[in-house]
Amino acid sequence: MSDTKYETHEHDVLIIGAGGAGLRAAIEASNEKVSVGLVCKSLLGKAHTVMAEGGVAAAMGNVEPKDNWKVHFRDTMKGGRYLNQWRMAQLHAMEAPDRVNELEEWGALFDRTADGRILQRNFGGHKYPRLAHVGDRTGLEMIRTLQQHGVHLGIKVYMECTVSRLLVDGDKIRGAFGYWRENGRFVLFKAKSIVIATGGIGRMFKINSNSWECTGDGQALAYLAGAELMDMEFMQFHPTGMVWPPSVRGTLITEGVRGEGGTLRNKDGKRIMFDYIPELYASDTAPTEAEADQWLRESTSGVSSNAKRTPDLLPRDIVARAIHSEVKAGRGSPHGGVFLDIATRRSAEDIKRKLPAMYHQFKELGDVDITKEPMEVGPTAHYTMGGIRVDSDTQETRIKGLFAAGECSAGMHGSNRLGGNSLSDLLVFGRIAGLHAANYAKTAPAPTSNEGEVKAAAREALEPFNRTDGENPFLLHEELKDAMQKHVGIIRTEAELEAGLAALEKLKARVNNIKVEDNRHFNSAWHQSLDMRNMLINAEAMCRAAITRKESRGGHAREDYPDQDKGHWSKVNIVSSLKNGAMEIAEVPLPPVPADIQKVLEEG
Ligand code: FUM
Repeated sequence: MSDTKYETHEHDVLIIGAGGAGLRAAIEASNEKVSVGLVCKSLLGKAHTVMAEGGVAAAMGNVEPKDNWKVHFRDTMKGGRYLNQWRMAQLHAMEAPDRVNELEEWGALFDRTADGRILQRNFGGHKYPRLAHVGDRTGLEMIRTLQQHGVHLGIKVYMECTVSRLLVDGDKIRGAFGYWRENGRFVLFKAKSIVIATGGIGRMFKINSNSWECTGDGQALAYLAGAELMDMEFMQFHPTGMVWPPSVRGTLITEGVRGEGGTLRNKDGKRIMFDYIPELYASDTAPTEAEADQWLRESTSGVSSNAKRTPDLLPRDIVARAIHSEVKAGRGSPHGGVFLDIATRRSAEDIKRKLPAMYHQFKELGDVDITKEPMEVGPTAHYTMGGIRVDSDTQETRIKGLFAAGECSAGMHGSNRLGGNSLSDLLVFGRIAGLHAANYAKTAPAPTSNEGEVKAAAREALEPFNRTDGENPFLLHEELKDAMQKHVGIIRTEAELEAGLAALEKLKARVNNIKVEDNRHFNSAWHQSLDMRNMLINAEAMCRAAITRKESRGGHAREDYPDQDKGHWSKVNIVSSLKNGAMEIAEVPLPPVPADIQKVLEEG
């Protein structure tokens, strides 16, 4: 196959990815009166953002008046075990309430307090009820609102289009090259600036909560174009994915279940989390069941409380590891998880009103009535804290004119993200990225294009068709998922990680030898073959960073280094970049925390 013809489109700002971050960036850039193109791999409205079910975190103080940005900032830094870029965590905590109010002005419907304000619920690691929500369909409501608002601003949307290469002129971005998934024809986007907002990487794990688009495309594109990846060792395993039936294993069960009073129990009916309260959270977590119950009673009736939090709502890394330990100790549920019980705490009516998606999900997929029976749950690969390294104030990468926002970017969450902080992250940093991309474009010259660079991208994409014999991309994907789950999972060791890296090296060679049959029209094997390159880059970065970081922190747990280091590893981020055709790993010092911000941290 040798047809490298392509069509061309030109915009001031090109946004790649139409989840929450991409849509919010597109809206902001559009407000700046520049021409905006929005490319998405899937259909508009079908973004993985809809899977953030339980709510958007913002210190609005509607349920607990003591809440404010400083408390949210402290919770976020503590949740990330202080490896966050402090400036991003500050901007996020300060701006999140405005971003939520703005959504409401644009038509989003939220659940309400008795006096008509946006209702906020409890979530892990947040000191106060802070998650603005719409039952358990918050992400869906956000996407619906952003999309409706955005399409009226004149944003040009390119659906079902995959970008396979970013195009650069020295250290400046100048466009993106890709293909229409429907007919396989090529397309060149010339752009003065680009925002990458392609989301996560969960599809490289066997058990994951992510939708099919989450193959780390943006991270890989940026890396290949010369940008850096950071914090790639930190993978969030959400504690509660479905474990049964096998066909839906990994599907998310919102943390909102525990926010509404759900408790985790082992096969003997014992509440597990009291045995897993770490020192860092000991002073604000209820050590006994009676005290935790009092907190739950008060918080679910909306009464503000000084009581300590239930340990079921500890941050996700702690809860996921606790479940893992219970299962390993032989105290798990029949299908290798533990039980999540909401039925004994809330009425059937409450459950159907506050958690309607969960009720239907279990009824339809598992034949379980959660108003009467407990759910079986276990950890599922959910979110990557790592991603493209960006400037904290502008979201720009080290490539001029190339920005990133949302899950594909790094820095905001440190080593572990608090639930609900992803939706607020993508609103806050989507807006910032869109604004700065537009401002950059206003003064940038018209993008040039280089025919050689474009043709090389086209030939690269066609390679899998032109081999006489080779590997099956779907089988290689299964092998990748197995290797990541086995060697780079929730608990890691040097030996396992080294074995994982060796497996990835072998897979890399085989991915370069994929053979695809038939033509370019909706050829899912071809699409898969190109996604494999991206997943492998992310997998390698995760594995190498995980080998480098010799401690346990947040979403990176090492059996051979079980403690969180107070020295060297508490002061550096790990950065991966492409140098002379190979991945180079560097340890980069965290930016110093200014005195006024340190004071805010210590006030807590
Ligand atoms: O549990 C959840 O509803 C997921 C939310 C999130 O990842 O922020």
